[in-house]
Formats: sequence, C-alpha cells, structure tokens
Amino acid sequence: MNQLCPLLATVLIATGCTQSSADSSLPSLADLYTESFKIGVALNPGEIAGDEPTAAELIAGQFNAYTAENDMKWERIEPTEGNFDFNVADAFVALGEKNDAFMVGHTLLWHSQTPDWVFEDENGDPASREIVLARLKHHIEAVVGRYQGRIHSWDVVNEAFNEDGTWRDSPWLRTIGPDYIARAFEFAHAADPEAALYYNDYNLFKADKRDAVVALVQSLQTEGRRIDGVGIQGHYGIGYPPMEELEASITAFGNLGVKVMITELDISVLPFPSTAQQGADISLDLELQAELNPYIDGVPADVSAALADAYRGLFELFLKHADVLDRVTLWNLTDASTWRNNWPMRGRTDHPVLFDRQNQPKDAYWALVNLKIYHDREN
Ligand code: G3I
Repeated sequence: MNQLCPLLATVLIATGCTQSSADSSLPSLADLYTESFKIGVALNPGEIAGDEPTAAELIAGQFNAYTAENDMKWERIEPTEGNFDFNVADAFVALGEKNDAFMVGHTLLWHSQTPDWVFEDENGDPASREIVLARLKHHIEAVVGRYQGRIHSWDVVNEAFNEDGTWRDSPWLRTIGPDYIARAFEFAHAADPEAALYYNDYNLFKADKRDAVVALVQSLQTEGRRIDGVGIQGHYGIGYPPMEELEASITAFGNLGVKVMITELDISVLPFPSTAQQGADISLDLELQAELNPYIDGVPADVSAALADAYRGLFELFLKHADVLDRVTLWNLTDASTWRNNWPMRGRTDHPVLFDRQNQPKDAYWALVNLKIYHDREN
C-alpha cells in the first residue's frame, strides 16, 4: 500500500474532502485544485477513444482541461493541401463536451510536424511569403473555425525562440519573416473572437528565453493584438529547473497582464545525457545507452519519493502564484503513454507522470493531494 495513503485517509475524513464522481476510490485533483487552477492532461487517440476503462475514469475524474497530444498538429489535421482529417480532433472535442472539460487546441503553428508542402511552391522551391501566409490563414480559419466556441483556447504559436532568446531559424521565419507570429494571432482571433490565445514554449525559465517572450508579448500588446497567456511547457527532471528562475518567469509573464499556464508538465526520473540536452528539442534522437535506462523494472522507493518531492516543490510554487496561473497540464496520463520513453533516445523506460503503467496513482499523485489539503487547512 502507498505509504502516504493512511495520512491522506485521516486528512480526508477530517476535511470532509469530496471524492471524484468518476472514480469512487480516488480524490479528484481537479476538484481539489479547482479554486487555484485547472488540472489538465494531454491525450492520445486511444485515451480519447476510451480504449481502457480505468484510463477513461482517470481522465474524467482527475482532470478538467484536455489537450490533444498530437492530433491537432498540422501534419495530422491537414496532411496535404486542403485535405483535412478531423476524425480524432472531433472525438477529442466530443470527449471534452461529455466531461465538461476546458479544451486546449495544440497547436496552430510550429516549426515541427508541419508538412513540407506548406513551404514549397509547385516546383518544390521555397514558396513566397504571400503563398505561405495564405496557407497559414486558410489552415487557421478551417481549424479554429470548425471548433469555434468548443475549443476554448489555442496554443497559437509553439517554440519560436532558441535557448539564447534569438529567433528560431524556422521555415516560418524564412518564408514569412518575423511578423509571422503576429499574423498567426491575428488569423486565430478572427476565426474565433472568444477563444483565448497563447504563446507556448519550453525552457522558459531561462532568462534569455524569458526576455524574448516578454518582448514578444509586449510587441503583440502594443499592436493591439489579442494574447491571453504564455504557456510554460515544463519538461523537467529531478532537481531541474532551478525554482527561483522558474518563479522569475511566472512573475515576469504575470506582470504583463496575461495568464500563465504550465502546459506540458512531466518530470523525468532518468539521467540526461547532458544538461545541454534538457528541455524538449524534438530533433534530438540519440543512441540508446543502457546506463541511461536504469529503471526498466520500476523505480526504487527513494526515486519514487524524489519524484513526489519534485512535484510537491513545483506545486508549492504554483499555489504561491495561483493568482496568475490558470492551468497546470500533465503531459501524458500515464508512464506507459509518456513521450519521454522515446526522447532524447528511443526505447527507455521513464516514470515521469502521476499514474503508473497500470493506471495506478503514484507517490507523486498522493503528494499533490496531500499538499493541497494541507494548503487549504493553513490558509
Ligand atoms: O502514430 C505514429 C505511428 O503510426 C508510427 O508507427 C510511429 C513511427 O515512429 O510514429 C507514430 O507517431 C509518433 C507520435 O509521437 C505518436 O507516438 C511520431 O513519430 C512522434 O514524432 C510523435 O512525437 C510527439 C512529438 O511531440 C512530435 O509531434 C510526441 O508524442 C509528443 O508528446 C510531442 O509533444 C511535444 C509538444 O507537441 C510540443 N512541446 C514538446 C512536446 C514533447 O516533445
């Protein structure tokens, strides 16, 4: 039995904490944190389809905000020009409506997972700014327009900056120029004037990247464009990132008058090949090394406790800044579905989220339950 359960049981009785309607045996993180921020999760097609009943119970009971992990990316939704595949996205929206969840569209513009045709003319040469802009507009109108009023928010632009705060050399920048971000926000706002619009990136605790995003938000605000929030992705490890730097970024973005979301939270328990490779640079694909894959058969108790401590530390910070934090989304439901098993090298066994490979709650889950109960009793 989980060591923290008896403690939880005592506190639950003392506080009269309500239990999840979807799973009679677990308290609901979404319910517990409802007055502080939303608790979200990224979903894959099997989870959207409800393939596993216990996973479906967790999705309905533990989370009140959903993001499609991959199925609203350009390559999935418009693989060839003008030919849209909305099948999984439609099912995703239907699930959100069934469970009354806050829906996040991910993502309208990204340097990755965008088909080559978007940037090429009929001869395979680089397309003109006008053509690429027209394709971007058409894509955003089609996708945002289809889900108007049903997808409540959009990661409009994903990962536009390098670690040093310079602009990422992407096909978007090369073909359209630096106003591509403003154009994307303009098109998204026109397609659904009520939808909340976000800029989303990883490693935003780094000062140079933070400054670049502050400047971006300020420039959009100066132009009078709608921007509602900054998404701090949150692909972390044990002891990483430095809390004071993350806090500085939450504060800096909050001071701009926009909301802050932790949009893609996971905490790897595995060793990184090097600190330079922390983050989420999707182009990394290193060779599998056995010494970097130590927990194939499960994590020892001390590692499980360290993960719980890491989650507790982050959520203490998030609760401190609940006035500007709108949502914390876990990037994947269980350790079985986490992308971390295949990044930065394929075939590892990671354990970075709150539910294990059998859909069972981990020490990290109970740490977040207990943290909020104690937090509420003290405040
Ligand atoms: O579904 C196909 C499968 O049919 C095929 O056999 C297999 C062969 O490789 O690929 C499968 O697709 C993979 C997909 O994940 C589903 O597993 C893609 O190759 C793989 O590239 C894709 O990776 C996703 C990655 O973004 C790139 O889109 C990860 O699941 C997803 O977690 C990750 O999410 C990103 C966020 O969107 C942005 N921030 C960083 C974050 C982590 O990289």
